[in-house]
Amino acid sequence: MYASLKSIGGYAPKNILSNADLEKMVDTTDEWIEKRTGIKERRIASKDEDTSDLGVKAALLAIERAGIDKDEIDLIICATLSPDYLCMPSTACVIAGKLDIQNVMAFDISAACSGFVYMLSMAKAFIESGAKKNILLIGAEKISSVVDYTDRGTCILFGDGAGAAIIGVTEDKNEAIIDIHASADGRYGDLLITPGCGSKYPCSQETLDKKLNFIKMSGNDVYKIAVKTLTSDVIDILESNNLSVSQIDHFIPHQANFRIIEAVRAKLDFPVEKTVLTVAKYGNTSAASIPMAINDAYEEGRIKKGDLMLLDTFGGGFTWASALVRFGGN
Ligand code: COA
Repeated sequence: MYASLKSIGGYAPKNILSNADLEKMVDTTDEWIEKRTGIKERRIASKDEDTSDLGVKAALLAIERAGIDKDEIDLIICATLSPDYLCMPSTACVIAGKLDIQNVMAFDISAACSGFVYMLSMAKAFIESGAKKNILLIGAEKISSVVDYTDRGTCILFGDGAGAAIIGVTEDKNEAIIDIHASADGRYGDLLITPGCGSKYPCSQETLDKKLNFIKMSGNDVYKIAVKTLTSDVIDILESNNLSVSQIDHFIPHQANFRIIEAVRAKLDFPVEKTVLTVAKYGNTSAASIPMAINDAYEEGRIKKGDLMLLDTFGGGFTWASALVRFGGN
């Protein structure tokens, strides 16, 4: 028995926040943002759209495309750094409620931008152990709720969105999730952090006045470590599976910054045509970034059953992960 990525879904909110819009909000220019990040615009959820609502829209597509009944789902995991509620209920439970699925195990994970690939490794273990049969994974973010729109170092980067996948069982190795490497190094936690409104700095007027409830980032430090880690991650997983770049059909990196992706792509010699890029239109959607990118490539007709995808991600923690996944959907 193998675990298989049976289907993908995605959702991008309708409202667009362009670089020209940001020029009116902070001291920046369209030219600077595009040159340093490759981002042209990002999507922003409306006031009445919660993270769970974005997740539900992506999940409905993934369920439909998997051709299963929603009640066949026996586990829901949601990765998010912008949950509906800080502590409880989990966004996965809120999504289960909105999808009207009962008698299901449901919980959130916290692995920042690496969330989707982290969840994938958990789903693989649940399926291969025989504990679960149909797992719904959701990466959903309303990051706009934790971004400081007076901080030009962060507000230009992030956007809202959601991606979802159904992980099921297969006996066919050509449709299987082959391998996943996931790791973390907590020494770098302070470089990318949302310090406030947890137990360390509980929500208070002082916490809010100091804007500790928003994402803080040492952009340049993050940049350098991201390029190094994303590159070594790919080399490790390819080597340990005796695969070469030429055997990969789709390179799907975390969509944080075009320059980061380009540096990794060029070092590894991945052809541009095999690299999936969505950063220009969505910005960095954290845990939603990889499944949204898979979904876009799928909807463009680029990804077919059996294709070998290489996922590569990096995020706060620091966390990072890579995965070799054969697409098991239709
Ligand atoms: N518009 C105009 N100028 C800006 C700016 C903006 N939005 N943001 C920063 N600057 C300025 C800085 O103040 C600095 O000015 P100075 O030289 O006068 O001090 C200058 O641009 C260079 O800043 P620096 O931070 O070195 O720029 P950079 O080339 O590293 O680009 C990031 C900044 C944030 C785009 C880049 O570091 C990055 O993408 N980092 C990784 C972020 C990331 O991916 N995070 C999520 C990981 S999952």
